[in-house]
Parts: sequence; C-alpha cells; structure tokens
Amino acid sequence: MVSVNRNVFGELPSGGGTVEKFQLRSDQLRVDIISWGCTITALEVKDRQGTASDVVLGFAELEGYLQKQPYFGAVVGRVANRIAKGTFTLDGKKYQLPINREPNSLHGGLRGFDKVLWMPQVLSNGVQFSRVSPDGEEGYPGELKVWVTYTLDGGELVVNYRAQASQATPVNLTNHSYFNLAGQGSPNVYDHEVTIEADTFLPVDETLIPTGDIAPVQGTAFDLRKAVELGRHLQEFHIDGFDHNFCLKRSKEKHFCARVHHHGSGRVLEVYTTQPGVQFYTGNFLDGTLKGKGGAVYPKHSGFCLETQNWPDAVNQPHFPPVLLRPGEEYDHTTWFKFSVA
Ligand code: BGC
Repeated sequence: MVSVNRNVFGELPSGGGTVEKFQLRSDQLRVDIISWGCTITALEVKDRQGTASDVVLGFAELEGYLQKQPYFGAVVGRVANRIAKGTFTLDGKKYQLPINREPNSLHGGLRGFDKVLWMPQVLSNGVQFSRVSPDGEEGYPGELKVWVTYTLDGGELVVNYRAQASQATPVNLTNHSYFNLAGQGSPNVYDHEVTIEADTFLPVDETLIPTGDIAPVQGTAFDLRKAVELGRHLQEFHIDGFDHNFCLKRSKEKHFCARVHHHGSGRVLEVYTTQPGVQFYTGNFLDGTLKGKGGAVYPKHSGFCLETQNWPDAVNQPHFPPVLLRPGEEYDHTTWFKFSVA
C-alpha cells in the first residue's frame, strides 16, 4: 500500500507560483518530492532496528533550494553532466550553450530543469511531473515535452523519465540526490561500502570532460566491481574522491548498476537502471557552508550521488552511446533505488 499526500511547500518570489510537496509512503519508505525541479527533499529509510532516518541531503525550506546550491535531490536536464565548452554541432548547425561551469556547460545551463516549476499530477502510488521545455531554452534546439514519474513499490523508489522532441536535440535526464545511508548530516560517507558494476570508466581532463578513452577499471582505483570501503579505498589510491562516469551495460533492459552498504545501520541501497552510465560523485565540492535540514552542514564527502545517465559530452563523442532524440522517437529511461537492510 502506498499513500500520497499533497501540501504547499512554499511560494516562489515575485508571484512565481506555489511549490507543492508530495509525500509518498510505503511500509518501508517515505519520500518527499517538490514540484520545484522535481526535487527529492527527504527520503526516510529504516535501519536494522527499524528506526527511520532521512538519507538524503537537502533543506527544510524552499529558500534553501532557491539559493546557489549543488543540485540537491533535483532532476537535471535538458542535458545532465558536462558538454565541452558548451558547444556542439547537430545536423550541420552549431549550437552554443551558456557556460555555467568554466569552461563547460553543466547540468542544463543557467536555468536547467532543476530551477523550474513542474506541473504535478497525483497517481495512486506516486506523482508525475511534466513540463514543456520551449524551443531554444538554455540554447537547446526544439521544444521538448518531459514527464518525470516517481512511484513507490515497497522498499523501491522508481523514477521514470520520458521525453518527446519537436526537433532533434540531445537529452540526458537524471536525479541528483546526495545520499548518506548513516543519515543525512553524518560527517562523511567513508564507512560506506560501494560496488559499481562497470568494467570500464571514462578518464577525464582537468575540466572533467571525458578524454574519449574508454578505460578498463582493472588494476585501477576505478575497479569497484567488488565492494570497497570508500574511505580506505580513497586513501589507498591517494585520490580525492570520485567524479566520473562508470560505463554500464549498454542494453536498454533493466540492469544492475551499483550497491552501497552502510554497515553501521545495515542500510543497503541498490541501483538498477536502463541507462548506459552512472556518474559516481562523492560530493568533492561540498564545503560545509550550506545550512541543511536539522542544522546539518555538509562538508566534503558527506554525501554521494549515483547519477544514472548517458555518458558525459556524448553529443561531441560519436563513439559514446547515442544522446540525440529525434521527432517521432521517445526518450524513456527508468532507474530503481532499492532499499533494504543487511
Ligand atoms: C558533477 C560534479 C558537480 C556536481 C554538482 C555532479 O554531477 O559531476 O562535477 O560539481 O554535479 O555541483
């Protein structure tokens, strides 16, 4: 049984509209999602003892989400991740997007899908958000109709993304939740054990754009095919965290992506997806300056993201999985976040 509750979350400044909050509950999970950016603002998961904690970073009030902040819980698009120098050529025409993370375009631009109000519709087991991204929005070609659907099924949160374009355009949609399975506000995720089902990953240049190489993980810090304890692993390989695309199965069937186990609480998160990649990001740019829920501050490495998506900069790298959506086609991807205890 899933229940869905609808409430006002806050008012946007200067008559920008009302942001609503949808609370989805199953026996095992409680998730709060707002219509601003389709953002997950809270996700309560039980531990081994049956005590629920909120395992996602975020803010108690709408103001928190309107300030400059690193995409906590939001859906990002039209194209998640980086496009080199914010430029690409499509059907012979060159496009220049705003550069919002020098020297590249990141997560859809200055006002991406995380910074707009979506139209909600309550479902029996969840909520669906939709919007039309106008032709030329943030420099992207064509109008794009988008539907993001969150549903609960026991211990599973399912996120489906659908889109239709009036003109060929790159599309890459994901959710940017930062998890801490010890409970949000815990100082780091070093005691989390991580497994990612990837034989290869994408090395990046100093601006975090993939070099084009599809490198085997074997013998590198990126070999997460067997569980590693994150803190120890970072130390062992002398790395400052992950912010990389791991290459998953290219099939559009549901496949296993990652598993994270927090031994202390027993909480386990397993991620399955139809996407060919996952950006594993360990909150390297968090710096403790944001004031989060319950007085939490979020220092570096206090949360991790598993952003299931297409490979970064795919629009400029023809050997990466296709990222263009053409009229008459449908973009349709699903990610499953499955919680349990072990
Ligand atoms: C990117 C990081 C970026 C963060 C948001 C992640 O998806 O990979 O490089 O800093 O989003 O700020």
